[in-house]
Amino acid sequence: MAKDGQKKTCGQVMGEWKEFFWNPRTHEFMGRTASSWGLILLFYLVFYIFLAGMFVLTMYVMLLTLDDYKPTYQDRLATPGMMIRPKGKALEITYNIHDTESWDMYVKALDAFLAPYNNSEQAMNNKDCPQDTYFIQEDAGEIRNNPKRSCQFNRTALKECSGENDPYYGYQAGQPCVLIKLNRVIGLMPGSLEQPPYVSCGVKKEEKDSSLINSLSYYPSNGTFNLMYFPYYGKLAQVNYSQPLVAVKFQNVTFNTDINIECKINSGALVSPTSERDKFAGRVSFKLRIDND
Ligand SMILES: *[C@@H]1O[C@H](CO)[C@@H](O)[C@H](O)[C@H]1NC(C)=O
Ligand SMILES: *[C@@H]1O[C@H](CO)[C@@H](O)[C@H](O)[C@H]1NC(C)=O
Ligand SMILES: *[C@@H]1O[C@H](CO)[C@@H](O)[C@H](O)[C@H]1NC(C)=O
Ligand SMILES: *[C@@H]1O[C@H](CO)[C@@H](O)[C@H](O)[C@H]1NC(C)=O
Ligand SMILES: *[C@@H]1O[C@H](CO)[C@@H](O)[C@H](O)[C@H]1NC(C)=O
Repeated sequence: MAKDGQKKTCGQVMGEWKEFFWNPRTHEFMGRTASSWGLILLFYLVFYIFLAGMFVLTMYVMLLTLDDYKPTYQDRLATPGMMIRPKGKALEITYNIHDTESWDMYVKALDAFLAPYNNSEQAMNNKDCPQDTYFIQEDAGEIRNNPKRSCQFNRTALKECSGENDPYYGYQAGQPCVLIKLNRVIGLMPGSLEQPPYVSCGVKKEEKDSSLINSLSYYPSNGTFNLMYFPYYGKLAQVNYSQPLVAVKFQNVTFNTDINIECKINSGALVSPTSERDKFAGRVSFKLRIDND
C-alpha cells in the first residue's frame, strides 16, 4: 500500500487494512458487497457441479464400453510369449548331478507346477474334448455362453517328464526335463487344422554347435500344442483353463559346458518375429549347464 516511497505510520496502515477487511460505510467485506460475494460463490458452485457432472458422465460412458469378459483394446501380440519351468533366476538351469541339493529345487518346482495337471484334478475340473480341432464356444450375440469349459491337459501326456515313473524328472541322471508354456492370449488360434503349433528347441543361433545337445525328446509327441486348447476366452469366462505344456527332455547333453538353448513355437499363423521388440515373443532362451564331477 505504500506507493512512491510515501511513508505511512503503522497506525494508518493498520487502519487501511481494517477498512479493507470490513468497510462499515459501504458494507464491503474484503472489497466486495454481500451480493457480489454471493454471485461469485454461486458461480463457482455451478462451475464445479458442472465439472463433476462432466467427469461422472465421461466415466459412465467409458465403463459402458468395457466388457467384463474380454479386453476392449488388446495390444494383440501376433506371437505370444513363452516361458520355461522350472525357471531358476535369470532363466538358468545349472546344477551338479552329484549334488542333490543343487537340483532338488528344480524337482520341487516341477512337482508344484504340475500338481494341478494331475489326471484326477483335470478329470474333476475340465472336459475331455475332441482332439485336434479348435474348441470354439462363442457367445450367441448378447447372450453369454459363460462359464466356458476348458479341455483336460493330463499330466500323463508328458510321459517321461510327467514325474509319474521318474519322480526326479531326469535331473539325477543328467537328462533333465524342461517344460515350455505358451502365455495366454485371448482369442488366439495358432496353427491350422493341418499343422498344429509345435515347439522346437536347439542351441542358440550364435553357437550352432548342435552336438552340445545331441538328441531331444518332446512330449506330447512332436512337441505339439493340441488345437483343442485354443482359443482362450479369458480368466473370467474360462475359470478352470489349464495352459497346455510341452516337455523337452535333454537326452544326451555335453556336461560341464554352458549351453545356450532357444525354444521357439512354429506355427503358420505365428510368424517368427525378427524385431527386438519382445524377446519372448514366440521364443524363449535359457542357459543349461550340467556339471558332472
Ligand atoms: C498329484 O499326483 C501326485 C502323484 O502322482 C501326488 O503326489 C500329488 O499329491 C497329487 N497332487 C494333487 C494336488 O492332487
Ligand atoms: C485324462 O485322464 C482322465 C483320467 O485318467 C481320463 O479319463 C481322460 O480321458 C484323460 N483326458 C485326456 C484328454 O487324455
Ligand atoms: C471348474 O471346476 C469345478 C470343480 O473344481 C467345477 O465344479 C466347475 O464346474 C468347473 N467349471 C467349468 C466351467 O468347467
Ligand atoms: C509327428 O510328426 C510326424 C511327421 O511330421 C507325423 O507323421 C506324425 O503323425 C506326428 N505325430 C503326431 C502324434 O502328431
Ligand atoms: C551321446 O552323444 C555322443 C556324442 O556327443 C555319442 O557319442 C553318444 O553315443 C550319445 N549317447 C547316446 C546314449 O545317444
